[in-house]
Amino acid sequence: MKEQLEKLVSDSLSQIGAAESVKALNETKVKILGKSGELTALLRNLKDLPDEQRPAVGKAVNEVRAKLESEFSKKFDDLHRAEVESKLSAEKIDITIDKYVHDVGCLHPLTCVRDKITDFFVSLGFIVTDSPEIETDYYNFEALNTPADHPARDVQDTFYITDRILLRSQTSTGQIRTMERIKPPIKMISPGRVYRSDDLDATHSPMFHQIEGLVVDKNITMCDLKGMLDMFASHFFGHNCKTRFRPSYFPFTEPSVEVDATCNHCYGKGCRVCKGTGWIEILGAGMVNRNVLANCGIDPDEYTGFAFGMGLDRITNIIHKTDMRAVFENDIRFLKQFK
Ligand code: PHE
Repeated sequence: MKEQLEKLVSDSLSQIGAAESVKALNETKVKILGKSGELTALLRNLKDLPDEQRPAVGKAVNEVRAKLESEFSKKFDDLHRAEVESKLSAEKIDITIDKYVHDVGCLHPLTCVRDKITDFFVSLGFIVTDSPEIETDYYNFEALNTPADHPARDVQDTFYITDRILLRSQTSTGQIRTMERIKPPIKMISPGRVYRSDDLDATHSPMFHQIEGLVVDKNITMCDLKGMLDMFASHFFGHNCKTRFRPSYFPFTEPSVEVDATCNHCYGKGCRVCKGTGWIEILGAGMVNRNVLANCGIDPDEYTGFAFGMGLDRITNIIHKTDMRAVFENDIRFLKQFK
């Protein structure tokens, strides 16, 4: 037994000495000191020894285990240090390399202008509502005083999904949905996408954006509309820009107007953009037609209101002095300028 132990020690020491990596060393350690390792196997023979020899041999085995463990751990430290050193010298960190440049994104110009317009109206106490893009004939036309045989239906070339279901051609649908939901006093705006079968050119697109506005209360007059729109024009076009009303026609407002603002290129002097008139058209508006109020269960003898609908794309083009196609093409070089 003694010889066996001595042999084990000398074999083990030479194997420890020969190990070239932490991995190989660990494998050797398991082979010798592990549960089914060589030293444990020797220990099992202990029970076959005569009683008087057992304590001395047991002690010798434990000493061997302690000695080998300390040899393993010394060798482990050496190998580990060497491995870390060689890794460090092989994997140099090149601090001169370019860092990644993360491009900072930006909001689309339409989103920015929509948010600014929304903020403007919210500061005047308006609420912001949302309404569906897929609508019924009722909300897009019927409730807006535009029955099936009404000539105004031809003006807006509408995308129909079925006989009754369509892509809304105007955000005026939001007026009806709001008046059905809340009773006066009402001050709301409703921004969103609208669809018409137009080809894309400098001023048209089959999908564009509108912002609807609606105010209903007792004693609302056209002066309220005018005063508010003058504030809007000077806020967004600057330079004390004002508005003017031109008589127009919409089935859901009476009287109806088309609203121009002072041209923000020449401030009224007349230029190429305003075709020499000093004015640019910004929106359609009017006093809410009595029939529309009645359709929504609001007494037109008690309440009056005004409504307006502006093209967000148009306003964005005016503010940024660009054209419709640039805003929709989403050419990144164009959009980046709005950072
Ligand atoms: N809905 C009209 C359009 O799309 C605009 C409008 C809204 C006019 C509200 C009057 C009142 O042209």
